Amino acid sequence: MREIAEKLTQIYGPSGSENKIRKAIESEIKPFVDEFHTDNLGNLIARKKGPGKKIMFAAHMDEIGVIVNYADEKGFLRFAPVGGVNPIITAGQRVVFEDGTTGVVGCEFRDIAPGSFPPLSKMFIDIGAKDKNEALLKVKIGDKAGFVQGFSVNGQRWISKAFDDRIGCAVIVDALKKVKKPLNDLYFVFTVQEEVGLRGARTSAYAVEPDLAIAVDVTGTGDTPKGFTMSVEMGKGPGLKIMDASIIVTEKVKNFMRSAAEKRGIPFQNEILVFGGTDAGAFSVTKSGIHSGCISIPSRYIHSPSEMVDSSDVENASKWIVSICETDASQAGF
Ligand code: CO
Ligand code: ZN
Repeated sequence: MREIAEKLTQIYGPSGSENKIRKAIESEIKPFVDEFHTDNLGNLIARKKGPGKKIMFAAHMDEIGVIVNYADEKGFLRFAPVGGVNPIITAGQRVVFEDGTTGVVGCEFRDIAPGSFPPLSKMFIDIGAKDKNEALLKVKIGDKAGFVQGFSVNGQRWISKAFDDRIGCAVIVDALKKVKKPLNDLYFVFTVQEEVGLRGARTSAYAVEPDLAIAVDVTGTGDTPKGFTMSVEMGKGPGLKIMDASIIVTEKVKNFMRSAAEKRGIPFQNEILVFGGTDAGAFSVTKSGIHSGCISIPSRYIHSPSEMVDSSDVENASKWIVSICETDASQAGF
Protein backbone atom coordinates (compact mmCIF):
# COMPACT_ATOMS: atom_id res chain seq x y z
CA MET A 1 0.00 0.00 0.00
CA ARG A 2 2.81 2.40 0.86
CA GLU A 3 4.40 2.13 -2.58
CA ILE A 4 1.17 2.78 -4.46
CA ALA A 5 0.27 5.65 -2.10
CA GLU A 6 3.66 7.27 -2.65
CA LYS A 7 3.54 6.75 -6.40
CA LEU A 8 0.04 8.19 -6.86
CA THR A 9 0.41 11.20 -4.55
CA GLN A 10 3.55 12.42 -6.30
CA ILE A 11 1.99 12.60 -9.78
CA TYR A 12 0.85 15.93 -11.27
CA GLY A 13 -2.92 16.30 -11.64
CA PRO A 14 -4.88 19.47 -10.80
CA SER A 15 -8.61 19.39 -11.68
CA GLY A 16 -9.12 19.12 -15.44
CA SER A 17 -5.53 17.93 -16.00
CA GLU A 18 -5.79 14.33 -14.83
CA ASN A 19 -4.13 12.62 -17.84
CA LYS A 20 -0.92 11.63 -16.06
CA ILE A 21 -2.58 10.30 -12.95
CA ARG A 22 -5.19 8.43 -14.99
CA LYS A 23 -2.47 6.71 -17.05
CA ALA A 24 -0.68 5.62 -13.88
CA ILE A 25 -3.86 4.18 -12.33
CA GLU A 26 -4.80 2.51 -15.60
CA SER A 27 -1.54 0.60 -15.77
CA GLU A 28 -1.90 -0.46 -12.11
CA ILE A 29 -5.41 -1.87 -12.46
CA LYS A 30 -5.30 -3.31 -15.99
CA PRO A 31 -4.42 -6.91 -15.02
CA PHE A 32 -7.05 -6.99 -12.27
CA VAL A 33 -10.24 -5.79 -14.00
CA ASP A 34 -12.35 -7.23 -16.82
CA GLU A 35 -12.84 -3.99 -18.74
CA PHE A 36 -12.22 -0.25 -18.47
CA HIS A 37 -12.74 2.91 -20.44
CA THR A 38 -12.37 6.67 -20.13
CA ASP A 39 -15.49 8.83 -20.57
CA ASN A 40 -15.76 12.25 -22.23
CA LEU A 41 -14.86 14.19 -19.08
CA GLY A 42 -11.88 11.96 -18.31
CA ASN A 43 -13.27 9.63 -15.64
CA LEU A 44 -11.65 6.19 -15.63
CA ILE A 45 -14.40 3.57 -15.25
CA ALA A 46 -13.29 -0.03 -14.61
CA ARG A 47 -15.41 -3.11 -14.04
CA LYS A 48 -14.78 -6.41 -12.30
CA LYS A 49 -17.69 -8.62 -13.22
CA GLY A 50 -19.62 -10.42 -10.58
CA PRO A 51 -23.16 -11.66 -9.93
CA GLY A 52 -25.85 -9.56 -8.33
CA LYS A 53 -26.09 -5.86 -7.68
CA LYS A 54 -23.96 -3.12 -9.17
CA ILE A 55 -21.71 -1.54 -6.57
CA MET A 56 -19.53 1.38 -7.56
CA PHE A 57 -16.51 2.60 -5.59
CA ALA A 58 -15.05 5.96 -6.51
CA ALA A 59 -12.13 8.19 -5.63
CA HIS A 60 -11.24 11.47 -7.30
CA MET A 61 -7.98 11.73 -9.20
CA ASP A 62 -7.71 15.51 -9.20
CA GLU A 63 -5.86 17.62 -6.66
CA ILE A 64 -6.19 21.33 -5.91
CA GLY A 65 -3.90 23.67 -7.83
CA VAL A 66 -3.62 27.05 -9.53
CA ILE A 67 -4.22 28.33 -13.08
CA VAL A 68 -2.19 31.12 -14.69
CA ASN A 69 -4.36 33.98 -15.96
CA TYR A 70 -1.90 36.85 -16.51
CA ALA A 71 1.80 37.52 -17.07
CA ASP A 72 3.28 40.94 -16.26
CA GLU A 73 6.12 42.67 -18.15
CA LYS A 74 8.73 41.32 -15.74
CA GLY A 75 7.58 37.73 -16.20
CA PHE A 76 5.71 37.22 -12.95
CA LEU A 77 2.62 35.06 -13.39
CA ARG A 78 -0.70 35.85 -11.71
CA PHE A 79 -3.03 32.96 -10.98
CA ALA A 80 -6.48 31.91 -9.83
CA PRO A 81 -7.20 28.95 -7.55
CA VAL A 82 -8.41 25.61 -8.96
CA GLY A 83 -10.38 24.23 -6.04
CA GLY A 84 -10.07 25.26 -2.40
CA VAL A 85 -6.60 26.79 -2.18
CA ASN A 86 -5.98 28.30 1.27
CA PRO A 87 -4.07 31.63 1.06
CA ILE A 88 -2.64 31.19 4.58
CA ILE A 89 -0.39 28.36 3.42
CA THR A 90 0.23 29.33 -0.20
CA ALA A 91 2.96 32.01 -0.21
CA GLY A 92 6.40 30.42 -0.25
CA GLN A 93 5.21 27.12 -1.69
CA ARG A 94 6.74 25.50 -4.74
CA VAL A 95 4.47 24.68 -7.69
CA VAL A 96 5.04 22.54 -10.79
CA PHE A 97 3.45 22.66 -14.24
CA GLU A 98 2.60 19.61 -16.34
CA ASP A 99 5.89 19.78 -18.30
CA GLY A 100 7.95 19.99 -15.10
CA THR A 101 8.50 23.77 -15.09
CA THR A 102 8.81 24.76 -11.45
CA GLY A 103 7.94 28.04 -9.78
CA VAL A 104 7.77 29.66 -6.36
CA VAL A 105 4.72 31.50 -5.04
CA GLY A 106 5.86 35.00 -4.14
CA CYS A 107 3.90 37.72 -2.39
CA GLU A 108 3.66 41.54 -2.44
CA PHE A 109 4.87 41.78 1.14
CA ARG A 110 5.08 45.57 1.19
CA ASP A 111 1.27 45.82 0.95
CA ILE A 112 0.55 43.35 3.73
CA ALA A 113 -0.01 44.72 7.24
CA PRO A 114 2.14 42.92 9.84
CA GLY A 115 0.26 39.96 11.33
CA SER A 116 -2.32 39.72 8.57
CA PHE A 117 -2.53 37.15 5.79
CA PRO A 118 -2.24 38.15 2.12
CA PRO A 119 -5.02 37.10 -0.28
CA LEU A 120 -4.14 35.09 -3.43
CA SER A 121 -4.60 38.30 -5.45
CA LYS A 122 -1.42 39.65 -3.80
CA MET A 123 0.59 36.62 -4.87
CA PHE A 124 2.37 35.60 -8.06
CA ILE A 125 4.31 32.65 -9.45
CA ASP A 126 7.99 33.26 -10.15
CA ILE A 127 9.53 30.74 -12.57
CA GLY A 128 12.75 32.73 -12.69
CA ALA A 129 12.03 34.22 -16.13
CA LYS A 130 13.82 37.45 -17.15
CA ASP A 131 10.72 39.00 -18.72
CA LYS A 132 7.22 38.34 -20.05
CA ASN A 133 8.45 36.80 -23.32
CA GLU A 134 10.69 34.30 -21.59
CA ALA A 135 7.94 33.44 -19.08
CA LEU A 136 5.37 32.83 -21.81
CA LEU A 137 7.78 30.56 -23.69
CA LYS A 138 7.63 28.19 -20.73
CA VAL A 139 4.14 28.75 -19.32
CA LYS A 140 1.03 29.68 -21.31
CA ILE A 141 -2.00 31.55 -20.02
CA GLY A 142 -4.34 28.77 -18.90
CA ASP A 143 -1.62 26.36 -17.79
CA LYS A 144 -2.23 24.78 -14.39
CA ALA A 145 0.25 24.01 -11.65
CA GLY A 146 0.06 21.70 -8.67
CA PHE A 147 1.86 22.04 -5.33
CA VAL A 148 5.13 20.19 -4.75
CA GLN A 149 5.89 18.16 -1.62
CA GLY A 150 7.54 14.78 -1.09
CA PHE A 151 6.29 11.68 0.72
CA SER A 152 7.49 11.19 4.32
CA VAL A 153 7.00 8.27 6.68
CA ASN A 154 7.05 8.74 10.48
CA GLY A 155 6.20 5.29 11.81
CA GLN A 156 2.48 4.76 11.20
CA ARG A 157 1.94 8.31 9.97
CA TRP A 158 2.41 9.31 6.35
CA ILE A 159 2.79 12.88 5.12
CA SER A 160 2.41 14.00 1.50
CA LYS A 161 0.81 16.40 -0.89
CA ALA A 162 -2.45 15.31 -2.54
CA PHE A 163 -3.60 12.63 -0.10
CA ASP A 164 -6.87 14.37 -1.05
CA ASP A 165 -7.69 12.17 -2.86
CA ARG A 166 -4.83 10.04 -4.14
CA ILE A 167 -5.00 8.09 -0.89
CA GLY A 168 -8.58 7.18 -1.88
CA CYS A 169 -7.29 6.15 -5.32
CA ALA A 170 -4.54 4.06 -3.69
CA VAL A 171 -7.04 2.39 -1.34
CA ILE A 172 -9.35 1.41 -4.23
CA VAL A 173 -6.42 0.16 -6.36
CA ASP A 174 -5.21 -1.92 -3.41
CA ALA A 175 -8.68 -3.30 -2.66
CA LEU A 176 -9.56 -4.25 -6.22
CA LYS A 177 -6.38 -6.33 -6.38
CA LYS A 178 -7.40 -8.19 -3.21
CA VAL A 179 -11.04 -9.02 -3.99
CA LYS A 180 -11.18 -12.79 -4.38
CA LYS A 181 -14.85 -13.72 -4.58
CA PRO A 182 -16.94 -10.74 -5.75
CA LEU A 183 -20.59 -11.26 -4.78
CA ASN A 184 -21.61 -8.07 -6.58
CA ASP A 185 -20.99 -6.59 -10.02
CA LEU A 186 -18.15 -4.19 -9.23
CA TYR A 187 -17.31 -0.83 -10.75
CA PHE A 188 -14.19 1.06 -9.75
CA VAL A 189 -14.30 4.67 -10.85
CA PHE A 190 -11.55 7.28 -10.70
CA THR A 191 -13.27 10.62 -11.12
CA VAL A 192 -12.16 14.03 -12.41
CA GLN A 193 -12.88 17.58 -11.23
CA GLU A 194 -14.13 16.81 -7.72
CA GLU A 195 -12.34 19.81 -6.26
CA VAL A 196 -14.22 22.23 -8.51
CA GLY A 197 -17.72 20.85 -7.90
CA LEU A 198 -18.06 17.04 -7.97
CA ARG A 199 -18.28 17.13 -11.76
CA GLY A 200 -16.86 13.76 -12.79
CA ALA A 201 -19.02 12.14 -10.13
CA ARG A 202 -22.22 13.21 -11.86
CA THR A 203 -21.42 11.86 -15.32
CA SER A 204 -19.88 8.61 -14.09
CA ALA A 205 -22.76 7.75 -11.75
CA TYR A 206 -25.24 8.61 -14.51
CA ALA A 207 -23.47 6.21 -16.89
CA VAL A 208 -22.94 3.34 -14.44
CA GLU A 209 -26.28 3.75 -12.66
CA PRO A 210 -25.18 1.59 -9.73
CA ASP A 211 -27.43 0.10 -7.05
CA LEU A 212 -25.00 1.48 -4.48
CA ALA A 213 -22.22 4.05 -4.89
CA ILE A 214 -19.48 4.50 -2.31
CA ALA A 215 -16.98 7.35 -2.47
CA VAL A 216 -13.59 7.03 -0.80
CA ASP A 217 -12.17 10.39 0.21
CA VAL A 218 -10.37 12.20 3.02
CA THR A 219 -12.10 13.94 5.90
CA GLY A 220 -10.92 16.36 8.57
CA THR A 221 -10.05 15.45 12.15
CA GLY A 222 -10.64 17.08 15.51
CA ASP A 223 -7.37 15.95 17.06
CA THR A 224 -5.08 18.98 16.62
CA PRO A 225 -4.75 21.97 19.04
CA LYS A 226 -7.80 24.20 18.71
CA GLY A 227 -8.67 22.49 15.43
CA PHE A 228 -12.09 21.54 14.16
CA THR A 229 -14.82 20.50 16.60
CA MET A 230 -15.32 16.93 15.46
CA SER A 231 -14.79 13.54 17.04
CA VAL A 232 -12.81 11.92 14.22
CA GLU A 233 -9.19 11.11 15.12
CA MET A 234 -6.34 9.73 13.05
CA GLY A 235 -5.62 6.06 13.71
CA LYS A 236 -9.06 5.16 15.10
CA GLY A 237 -10.30 3.63 11.83
CA PRO A 238 -11.76 4.99 8.60
CA GLY A 239 -14.87 7.14 8.87
CA LEU A 240 -18.39 5.96 8.12
CA LYS A 241 -19.91 9.07 6.54
CA ILE A 242 -23.06 10.15 8.37
CA MET A 243 -23.39 13.63 6.91
CA ASP A 244 -21.48 16.46 5.23
CA ALA A 245 -22.49 19.55 3.27
CA SER A 246 -23.33 17.43 0.22
CA ILE A 247 -25.12 14.37 1.62
CA ILE A 248 -27.06 12.78 4.47
CA VAL A 249 -26.42 9.05 4.20
CA THR A 250 -29.51 6.85 4.55
CA GLU A 251 -29.95 4.23 7.29
CA LYS A 252 -30.04 1.46 4.68
CA VAL A 253 -26.60 2.38 3.33
CA LYS A 254 -25.06 2.93 6.77
CA ASN A 255 -26.41 -0.41 8.05
CA PHE A 256 -24.99 -2.30 5.08
CA MET A 257 -21.58 -0.62 5.38
CA ARG A 258 -21.52 -1.11 9.16
CA SER A 259 -22.27 -4.82 8.95
CA ALA A 260 -19.58 -5.30 6.28
CA ALA A 261 -17.04 -3.70 8.64
CA GLU A 262 -18.22 -5.52 11.77
CA LYS A 263 -18.18 -8.99 10.25
CA ARG A 264 -14.42 -8.66 9.61
CA GLY A 265 -13.60 -6.75 12.78
CA ILE A 266 -12.66 -3.55 10.95
CA PRO A 267 -12.72 -0.46 13.23
CA PHE A 268 -14.56 2.63 11.99
CA GLN A 269 -15.70 6.01 13.31
CA ASN A 270 -18.93 7.89 12.68
CA GLU A 271 -18.01 10.94 10.64
CA ILE A 272 -19.85 14.24 10.37
CA LEU A 273 -18.13 16.98 8.37
CA VAL A 274 -19.80 20.36 8.71
CA PHE A 275 -17.97 21.95 5.78
CA GLY A 276 -17.20 20.55 2.34
CA GLY A 277 -18.62 17.61 0.45
CA THR A 278 -17.54 14.60 -1.57
CA ASP A 279 -18.43 12.79 -4.77
CA ALA A 280 -20.99 10.83 -2.73
CA GLY A 281 -23.16 13.95 -2.62
CA ALA A 282 -23.32 14.08 -6.41
CA PHE A 283 -23.95 10.33 -6.72
CA SER A 284 -26.90 10.52 -4.32
CA VAL A 285 -28.82 13.02 -6.47
CA THR A 286 -27.98 11.50 -9.87
CA LYS A 287 -30.89 10.28 -12.00
CA SER A 288 -33.80 9.41 -9.68
CA GLY A 289 -31.43 9.13 -6.70
CA ILE A 290 -28.71 6.55 -6.08
CA HIS A 291 -28.05 4.84 -2.74
CA SER A 292 -24.75 6.46 -1.73
CA GLY A 293 -22.24 6.35 1.07
CA CYS A 294 -18.65 7.28 1.76
CA ILE A 295 -15.60 5.79 3.42
CA SER A 296 -13.58 8.69 4.83
CA ILE A 297 -9.84 8.62 5.55
CA PRO A 298 -9.09 10.86 8.58
CA SER A 299 -6.54 13.43 7.45
CA ARG A 300 -4.91 16.42 9.09
CA TYR A 301 -4.03 19.57 7.14
CA ILE A 302 -6.34 18.87 4.18
CA HIS A 303 -5.71 21.15 1.20
CA SER A 304 -2.20 21.92 2.38
CA PRO A 305 0.86 20.51 0.57
CA SER A 306 1.56 18.39 3.68
CA GLU A 307 -1.50 16.34 4.50
CA MET A 308 -1.14 13.59 7.12
CA VAL A 309 -2.83 10.19 7.42
CA ASP A 310 -2.40 7.12 9.62
CA SER A 311 -1.50 4.01 7.61
CA SER A 312 -3.73 1.78 9.77
CA ASP A 313 -6.77 3.80 8.66
CA VAL A 314 -5.64 3.41 5.06
CA GLU A 315 -5.21 -0.37 5.37
CA ASN A 316 -8.55 -0.72 7.16
CA ALA A 317 -10.33 1.28 4.44
CA SER A 318 -9.04 -1.20 1.86
CA LYS A 319 -10.19 -4.18 3.97
CA TRP A 320 -13.60 -2.56 4.34
CA ILE A 321 -13.98 -2.23 0.56
CA VAL A 322 -12.98 -5.88 0.06
CA SER A 323 -15.56 -6.91 2.66
CA ILE A 324 -18.31 -4.91 0.90
CA CYS A 325 -17.33 -6.47 -2.45
CA GLU A 326 -17.64 -9.92 -0.89
CA THR A 327 -20.99 -9.23 0.85
CA ASP A 328 -24.12 -9.89 -1.24
CA ALA A 329 -25.85 -6.50 -1.47
CA SER A 330 -29.10 -8.03 -2.73
CA GLN A 331 -29.47 -9.72 0.67
CA ALA A 332 -29.50 -6.24 2.19
CA GLY A 333 -32.33 -5.16 -0.08
CA PHE A 334 -30.40 -3.24 -2.75
CO1 CO B 1 -10.38 18.26 -1.51
ZN1 ZN C 1 -11.26 15.01 -1.80
